Amino acid sequence: MAIMNKTSEISGFYKLSPKERVQIVKDFAELTDEEVKVLQSTGSLKMELADRMIENVVGAMPLPLGIAVNFLINKRDYLVPMAIEEPSVVAAASNAAKMARVKGGFFTSSTAPIMIGQIQTVGIDNPQTAKKAILATKEEILKKANEQDPMLVSVGGGAKDLDVKVLQTSTGPMVITELHVDCRDAMGANAVNTMAEAIAPMIERLTRGRVYLRIISNLATKRLARARTVVAKEAVGGEEVVDGIVDAYAFADVDPYRAATHNKGILNGIIGVVIATGNDHRAVEAGAHAYAARSGRYGSLTVWEKNRNGDLVGSIELPMAVGIIGGATRVHPVAKIALKILGVKTAREFGEVLAAVGLAQNLAALRALAHEGIQRGHMSLHARNIAITAGASGELIDLIVERMVEERRVRLDRAKELLREHKEKGKL
Ligand code: MEV
Repeated sequence: MAIMNKTSEISGFYKLSPKERVQIVKDFAELTDEEVKVLQSTGSLKMELADRMIENVVGAMPLPLGIAVNFLINKRDYLVPMAIEEPSVVAAASNAAKMARVKGGFFTSSTAPIMIGQIQTVGIDNPQTAKKAILATKEEILKKANEQDPMLVSVGGGAKDLDVKVLQTSTGPMVITELHVDCRDAMGANAVNTMAEAIAPMIERLTRGRVYLRIISNLATKRLARARTVVAKEAVGGEEVVDGIVDAYAFADVDPYRAATHNKGILNGIIGVVIATGNDHRAVEAGAHAYAARSGRYGSLTVWEKNRNGDLVGSIELPMAVGIIGGATRVHPVAKIALKILGVKTAREFGEVLAAVGLAQNLAALRALAHEGIQRGHMSLHARNIAITAGASGELIDLIVERMVEERRVRLDRAKELLREHKEKGKL
């Protein structure tokens, strides 16, 4: 039934149970009983837990979880869980990892897991003097920061250093204090934000200014992960394909329009794993894109070259703010299992695996683009979704996919037509 005067202003919505909230949403959006049932069947993430994770919960949004195979990283084998809605990403990563295996897979490195916390101070008459005052009090400030998280300090982490910069802005000069916090195996946003807030009064006293923002930076330039691979030219399809991939990289490196898509492809893989493990994918994505623009012009996160042998050499470097403890990583039941499948022992190792996955994903995309075009591989996977959407199940999915790809008519109306045809004739 249509509701007159619908309003989204609902006081106390947060106090209701998920069931009560769903009823309100049901009336508002005219959901059917079946739709309500779908919302409430949250699968492996129990409603009760979901309700404790975020606010105003009415359900869960399950994604397919796939395993990318063939990954050899620093001579160790990994099965890589990916949660993603896009067809062909898991297959592409597995394919690229197989190509990379021929010459030993991926080799990785990383910096210490250091995140930056920013404290913004305004209204300072003499910013240079304020900067000196903060720097002169560094040890005391670090001590205060570290008092906030004795656990982190006990495992070798904590606030290690700080920097101060003076910015000229449209509203006047600002003194920005940057706290460098070793977050060990956590992503670290909570630890860093707590420390930034705790030292703010000291900064105000020292500068006689007014502190506003006290927050982590997602441009985690002190927490970098790197991966490198040599791919035999035979494995990618010959020297011409190697040249095509190197040219594709060169294009991305000078053109932000191409680079955005190139880097999106890299993140297809990385973000799939980041989501599967319950990490904050927005943080990783923000860091990746900002890092890609660090020269002042947005460019490629990877580099692809040809060596003297004619083989393809690829590398990647990007910020990697991920953890294996804290946040949803140890709360979400699927995230816990995904981390167990991945088998990483530290956040650094995790970041390095992610860098390798990004490099593999980029290799697969560039190879497909430079070689045969992306659509052939995408087509049948896309066709599967269309066939399922049309209502096909079991073996009929493959039959319909085959026909649509053959006809190059991968469309919902065609899938429905084929389904009807099958119903009427009992065959296709
Ligand atoms: C699609 O999700 C990703 C690609 O567009 C990446 C690329 O163009 O490099 C294929």
